Amino acid sequence: MQKIVIGNSDIKTGKLGLGTNKVGGHNLFSGLNDRAGADVITTALDSGIQMLDTAYMYGLGQSETIIGDVLRQYNRSDIILATKAAQDPDHDLTFNNDPEFLRRAVDQALERLKTDYIDIFYIHFPDDNTPKDKAVAALSELKAQGKIRAIGLSNFTLDQIKEANVNHDIDIVEDHYSLVHRDAEQSLWPYLKAHHITFVPYFPLAQGLLTGRYRQEDQPKFKQYPVAKYQHIMSALEDLKTIANQHAATIAQVVLAWYMTNPDIGVVIPGARDAQQVQDNAKAALLTLTSDEYDDIDRLFQGF
Ligand SMILES: NC(=O)c1ccc[n+]([C@@H]2O[C@H](COP(=O)([O-])OP(=O)(O)OC[C@H]3O[C@@H](n4cnc5c(N)ncnc54)[C@H](OP(=O)(O)O)[C@@H]3O)[C@@H](O)[C@H]2O)c1
Repeated sequence: MQKIVIGNSDIKTGKLGLGTNKVGGHNLFSGLNDRAGADVITTALDSGIQMLDTAYMYGLGQSETIIGDVLRQYNRSDIILATKAAQDPDHDLTFNNDPEFLRRAVDQALERLKTDYIDIFYIHFPDDNTPKDKAVAALSELKAQGKIRAIGLSNFTLDQIKEANVNHDIDIVEDHYSLVHRDAEQSLWPYLKAHHITFVPYFPLAQGLLTGRYRQEDQPKFKQYPVAKYQHIMSALEDLKTIANQHAATIAQVVLAWYMTNPDIGVVIPGARDAQQVQDNAKAALLTLTSDEYDDIDRLFQGF
């Protein structure tokens, strides 16, 4: 699998990772099963996926705990663990970026993950009060102590990223991005590229919409896309299916391969509810799109 280096850190990882909000994320989704969640993790690691993207918020620690249990069967140094915190359990999960809170959050995540270092630690959301450079300074100290290897931000605006990055400490940014939500290309990418900051898109499959499994009549499930826009997505997916068929691949695999081909995208972290979805998505790493196919897909999703 193609590898990249995360920001200015010494972390090297494959371009296909795994999102784990459906591993133990009972507070966010219904119908989850922790055994299936553990299977999602083992299937990903056994398929050559290295980066696991978790957060305190996924099950209020449960996702990290499940991952920590599974990791005992693996060589820690083969795995890139990314986690996040900001929701303060002592204050109704309001966002907290206070240095003291971040230090405690990292220590508690280390315990749940049963490891002595976290590869990537993200501030999950900005808070209203903490100066961004102060919050990042606390993470730089943790990096110097070896508790984390790279510093990340998630859900920060460009101005907030700039404020946080005054000392060039930020390695990675995670934000909403997919072929049907392309704002970050204009709003974030020019700054990130200029500052060697890796970009990780969340919701890469638009929460399942970009797998091609939904039909026109499912539009009410995706209210963020008005009917005409949703129709545009359905017809673009139809065209994308033709490309997928030429590779004997699925729509989801082609979408994931498109992200992996895009030099402005770092690691792609599709989420999965079960092992089968992970197995299907992992095959995207074997797919090579021609430059014409890459451009055609780019054109199909212009205007999002
Ligand atoms: N930093 C942040 O604030 C933030 C926010 C959101 C997410 N994230 C991270 O980003 C990751 C990715 O986002 P996401 O998981 O919410 O959305 P996503 O990757 O766009 O979509 C994942 C969902 O699509 C469906 N799916 C996946 N593979 C499939 C396949 N092969 N066939 C059919 N359906 C498939 C599953 O939903 P079903 O359950 O419907 O089958 C799965 O849960 C998360 O897991 C999390 O780690 C971060």
